[in-house]
Amino acid sequence: MAEPTYDRIGVGYATKRVPEPRWVAQIARALGDARTVLNVGAGSGNYEPVDRQVVGVEPSSTMIAQRRNGNPVVQGVAEDLPFADGRFDAALAILTVHHWTDRAAGLAELRRVSGRQVLVVYEPLVSHSFWLVDYFPEVLTADLETGAPTPDEIGRHLRLVDVETMWIPADCSDGVAAAYWRRPEAYLDPDVQRSMSILALLPDDVVARGAAALAKDLEDGTWHRRHGHLLERSEADYGYRLAIAEG
Ligand SMILES: C[S@@+](CC[C@H](N)C(=O)[O-])C[C@H]1O[C@@H](n2cnc3c(N)ncnc32)[C@H](O)[C@@H]1O
Repeated sequence: MAEPTYDRIGVGYATKRVPEPRWVAQIARALGDARTVLNVGAGSGNYEPVDRQVVGVEPSSTMIAQRRNGNPVVQGVAEDLPFADGRFDAALAILTVHHWTDRAAGLAELRRVSGRQVLVVYEPLVSHSFWLVDYFPEVLTADLETGAPTPDEIGRHLRLVDVETMWIPADCSDGVAAAYWRRPEAYLDPDVQRSMSILALLPDDVVARGAAALAKDLEDGTWHRRHGHLLERSEADYGYRLAIAEG
């Protein structure tokens, strides 16, 4: 296997990517009464239930080393799951499908091994309206973004029964790309930049240039003039979606 990308960019994930309690509850509801759960692209184990039988699948040793919840994990990829047909009541895939090299194969594997599939993906059309893109427009042409699967695309591979909005609270504890929509200074923190793949995968000079422009706009009041209305809000939708499929 080639060096998994997250062996390089996954450092510090455990401190900046703390599961968001509101998303934990939303995912738990989507899993319904599933007793056995496979978490594919499991990373450090965020969002893995601890009150069900859970197995993780994850390619990156760096991510596996940051796991703390005690659930067993297998080093592997979505495209080739080492489990029998129908082995799990449900499969989880959280913010991982856009990283897979062959998502049709991975989604077919999810469907083969589980009766219900619960995925967190994002809707690029909505996420691109996020103000951060003004400072780092290069993210729009990054492979990860241009290839990100929409809920519609997931629906071409799985039998979708519901798609829910995942609202991002203003104090979101999981440092996903849009987590700091109301805390703009956070994007100047190198640890924050390193723990979100859209910035971690950009060249250092591009990140430095975008961060300098943001710092200037924060200092001279430009950011507040343009986006200050966001400070009144308690939650926002920047395209994160919970896709629930069955069969
Ligand atoms: C943004 S992280 C999400 C981790 C975890 N699901 C979470 O929500 O915290 C994406 C994960 O997908 C993993 N990944 C990348 N390619 C994969 C593949 N082909 N199959 C399974 N997982 C993969 C990465 O190593 C990384 O841990």
